[in-house]
Amino acid sequence: MDTPAQGAARRTRTRLPSKIGTFYAIAIMCTKVLCVQASSLHFSKEPKSQDASHGRSAMLRCEVSEAAGVSYSWLQDGQTVLDSERRFLEGSNLKFTAVDRHLDTGNFQCVATNVASGEVATSANASFNIKWLESGPVTLKEPASIQEIDGAEQIVLQCQIDGHPRPNSKWYKDGTALSGKEKTLTLKNPVPGDSGTYSCCARNGALQICSNTSFTLSIIGRLVSVFVSVCMCVCIWGCAGFC
Ligand SMILES: *[C@@H]1O[C@H](CO)[C@@H](O)[C@H](O)[C@H]1NC(C)=O
Ligand SMILES: *[C@@H]1O[C@H](CO)[C@@H](O)[C@H](O)[C@H]1NC(C)=O
Repeated sequence: MDTPAQGAARRTRTRLPSKIGTFYAIAIMCTKVLCVQASSLHFSKEPKSQDASHGRSAMLRCEVSEAAGVSYSWLQDGQTVLDSERRFLEGSNLKFTAVDRHLDTGNFQCVATNVASGEVATSANASFNIKWLESGPVTLKEPASIQEIDGAEQIVLQCQIDGHPRPNSKWYKDGTALSGKEKTLTLKNPVPGDSGTYSCCARNGALQICSNTSFTLSIIGRLVSVFVSVCMCVCIWGCAGFC
């Protein structure tokens, strides 16, 4: 004969398989999404794609809701980001002291790891839209060489300042502003009066920079040029006895 206590124990034991069965049923019904939501690693802050400026500081933010016992690392296009003086882990965030337009391209992801359970969560991708502006010289685009300037139908100068987004240019002749916003400056039917020192500056958004080398144009003009040739010829003839 069972004592009431033993009976209770047996009933508990016999009920156990059905409880386990229910548990498994719930576990199977529990979709991946539900499980992830129920897990301890849920991002309360995910890194966001953002504007940045080359050479300026920036921060990619990351946080999980249950932060205790969680360690963070970052990926750039799937590769672990190693701490350097320029970019490093600050708490859970990735701090950039000076964003680099060549080195900080691509997709960044935050990786949160629960140290105790080994559970890992990887955030959405985030990238920088890096604004930059880099100085350059004013160069001669047309004609092909300085020797061909005299007699050229048009002279085209190019402002070699480059950037993202595409900058607007401003031209100066001997320090005086000219009209036009293009990267090139066209002088049609150039005359000696177009001679001078040409420089340019460029602007995109908040950034502005000027050319690091200007271009000195010297146009003698056709008539003057013929006159000079004749003079030289006469001189050489006078001096050397032939032309
Ligand atoms: C994030 O970017 C990496 C590298 O560009 C890519 O392989 C991966 O599929 C992206 N992941 C998501 C979730 O978009
Ligand atoms: C001007 O800028 C260009 C492009 O950045 C660079 O290659 C060149 O060395 C610079 N020139 C001077 C005189 O600084």
